[in-house]
Amino acid sequence: MSSDKPSTASPMANLSVGGKTIDMPVRSGTVGPDVIDVGRLYKETGCFNYDPGFTSTANCSSKITYIDGDAGMLLHRGYPIDQLAEQSNFLEVCFLLLNGELPNEPEYEEFQLAITRHTMLHEQMTRFYTGFRRDAHPMAVMCGVVGALSAFYHDSTDINDPEQRTIAARRLIAKMPTIAAMAYKYSVGQPFIYPRNDLDFSANFLQMCFAVPCAPYTVDPVIARALDRIFILHADHEQNASTSTVRLAGSSGANPFACIAAGIACLWGPAHGGANEAALNMLSEIGTVDRIPEYIKKAKDKTSGFRLMGFGHRVYKNYDPRAKVMQKTCHEVLDALGIRNEPLLQVAMELERIALEDDYFVEKKLYPNIDFYSGITLRAIGFPVEMFTVLFAVARTVGWVAQWKEMIEDPEQRIGRPRQLYIGAPVRDYVPRGQRG
Ligand code: SDX
Repeated sequence: MSSDKPSTASPMANLSVGGKTIDMPVRSGTVGPDVIDVGRLYKETGCFNYDPGFTSTANCSSKITYIDGDAGMLLHRGYPIDQLAEQSNFLEVCFLLLNGELPNEPEYEEFQLAITRHTMLHEQMTRFYTGFRRDAHPMAVMCGVVGALSAFYHDSTDINDPEQRTIAARRLIAKMPTIAAMAYKYSVGQPFIYPRNDLDFSANFLQMCFAVPCAPYTVDPVIARALDRIFILHADHEQNASTSTVRLAGSSGANPFACIAAGIACLWGPAHGGANEAALNMLSEIGTVDRIPEYIKKAKDKTSGFRLMGFGHRVYKNYDPRAKVMQKTCHEVLDALGIRNEPLLQVAMELERIALEDDYFVEKKLYPNIDFYSGITLRAIGFPVEMFTVLFAVARTVGWVAQWKEMIEDPEQRIGRPRQLYIGAPVRDYVPRGQRG
């Protein structure tokens, strides 16, 4: 756990601006940085605080996930990610994120049965897929189909009804793998495969993706376990860009399906969840170990616009603890599949070694993040690179839903409406077109 709270933490922060001094309350959490409550700043000083990118801004209080970026630590409801990845399973982590505690046996069985029974999609929704080009990026399909869920599941869109919030949460967690597998099947021109109630979450997803009607399909338990662990690693991550998008969308009262569709759209960006696809494409472009120095040089040249995808993080200024587990899982999957000397893994490991010894990356505290090794693993399992961010979205849905639920139930929360520093034209009168210069 990060250092104990300083016992002398002042309960107030003072700010002097425009000849006026105001006191603002300082609030402490369980662990981590204190916050200065600036809610009265504009009212008492006429100033906004300015923080593009929210590098120093907490937009909520939360009990779900804690990240200590300097220590390279990630906790879900207090449990370290490496312990959950090694000892738990994705569905149990879903219960933990949603409810705050690990389930006992009856709770786990009820939750598992509920999720299993929500995996099917309304049959009419299959028609959405045929509206897309076969070569549409599957994330485009995910945005469309998930947003359309609200057109089919009206009985779980009333955000003020706790029962409907629970049903919507379970439907989203359960149906995302089905929707994602259907997006993959559509892209390869194969028939959709229905979920099976006799399989667990990750095994079911693998069979929906890789089974075909004309032959029996047996799930490889090693691959299923590895995928389950990958889902755990991607489940939630505090107030990242897509989670903040879901919270902001939810603050307007939008239905949960629309909010998750907004989160999917945000996750797609290469600076965020799209980095796993971009990282694999980068490793493929580098191709061989001898070309690494050329790319390290480009990454250090600001004018190149090139960054090492899968490296760096807004919060982690140490090794992303998920990347460590991801690297271990990558080796396990390649070994299980008998893939020796995967060239991209050699490139990735050598790139990591060189970068971690290079002053530029050391000074800027740039370490591999979760996206650096995930692509090699997912490609080895058989997923095309376009599906990598889709799998991230399947896993992150529980985090989005848990954070959305917490926001709805938080008495402090109201519609999010940031202000701005206006740098446009001062007030001026309209000039008829014929009189303009
Ligand atoms: C995810 O927020 C989350 O929690 C996200 C996530 C989650 O689980 O939800 O963890 C998932 O999105 C992981 C990050 C995946 N993105 C990438 O791998 C893309 C490559 N990385 C970056 O573009 C960047 O590191 C970010 C976007 C991840 C972080 O951006 P920041 O915090 O705004 O950092 P920055 O852009 O200000 O960079 C700080 C410095 C800059 O140099 P200076 O201006 O200080 O001189 O480091 C440099 C950057 O130029 N830098 C890099 C770099 N990342 C940052 N230089 C080369 N290669 C990189 N990858």
